Amino acid sequence: MLDTANPIKKMMMAMANKFTDIFSIRLGQVSPQRYKIKNDSRSIWIAMTKLPAYICIMFSFFKTKPTLSEIIPEGSVDIHSHILPGLDDGSKNVDQSIALIQGMKNLGFTELIATPHTMTGVWENSSEGIEKSWKTIQEHEIRNEPLRFASEYLLDNSFLERMQKAPLLCLKDRMVLVELSYFQAPINLFEILFELQLKGYLPVLAHPERYSYYFSDFKMLEKLKNAGCLFQLNLMSVVGHYGSESLKMSESLLNAKLIDYVGSDIHHQGHLECFDRKVQVKNLKALEKATAANAFFSQEAPLPSP
Ligand SMILES: [Fe+2]
Repeated sequence: MLDTANPIKKMMMAMANKFTDIFSIRLGQVSPQRYKIKNDSRSIWIAMTKLPAYICIMFSFFKTKPTLSEIIPEGSVDIHSHILPGLDDGSKNVDQSIALIQGMKNLGFTELIATPHTMTGVWENSSEGIEKSWKTIQEHEIRNEPLRFASEYLLDNSFLERMQKAPLLCLKDRMVLVELSYFQAPINLFEILFELQLKGYLPVLAHPERYSYYFSDFKMLEKLKNAGCLFQLNLMSVVGHYGSESLKMSESLLNAKLIDYVGSDIHHQGHLECFDRKVQVKNLKALEKATAANAFFSQEAPLPSP
């Protein structure tokens, strides 16, 4: 029998009982009373051997999630941003653009693709206008930063006409960043996607997790994927910036392995601050895989085989 007068042994016995109580209850086992450690050396020894496992479980409950900036690998390529001045609801002037570009560089992005909105009736941008804005930035001290430009095209009824008139600006090769209205998708969405691909373009759908009319229609997102769209998740969605439904949809898309790439979709300084927030999706592995996949857009990356 154990000498209960020994204070060290008494303390060990109390600790063993405490852990057993806590984890018996937490793990939904029978009453902790059934696991009460008996006052003998063998029982205490058995309980103490389980302590490391209990401690590991305890730490797994408190394991902290990384911040958004922590999951961005050094040398990343951002494929979605509104950092060119005076073209849309993003940067208003050269100073703001330079501050945003510097901020992105500090986060680990070494290549940026600016993608101003092209939206009939709202942001009537042309390839020439976008290039002109890009050249304005090149004339400043930021010119040595790898900054390219494309556009984020709204798929609406006027899109096909636009596509027929002039070549679209691409992220790389024939990959075009496209978005849908937040109110409703065009009735002829699949026809537009078909024509786009017939013309030799590959659609990359921006933030599929943000369209509220798909929150309860996951099958439609699967259909879009099967129709040839690649999916680009907004990084700020995984910290809950756009709300709980977008966060939930981000998790569902990651779990279903439907996300191909990520993008910042940065518009202003406040968006940079989102990178200090904790990632809230559970599937970090899928998120990190999509983040790493952006390397494909690097100027250094080899062209895909035909
Ligand atoms: Fe955007």
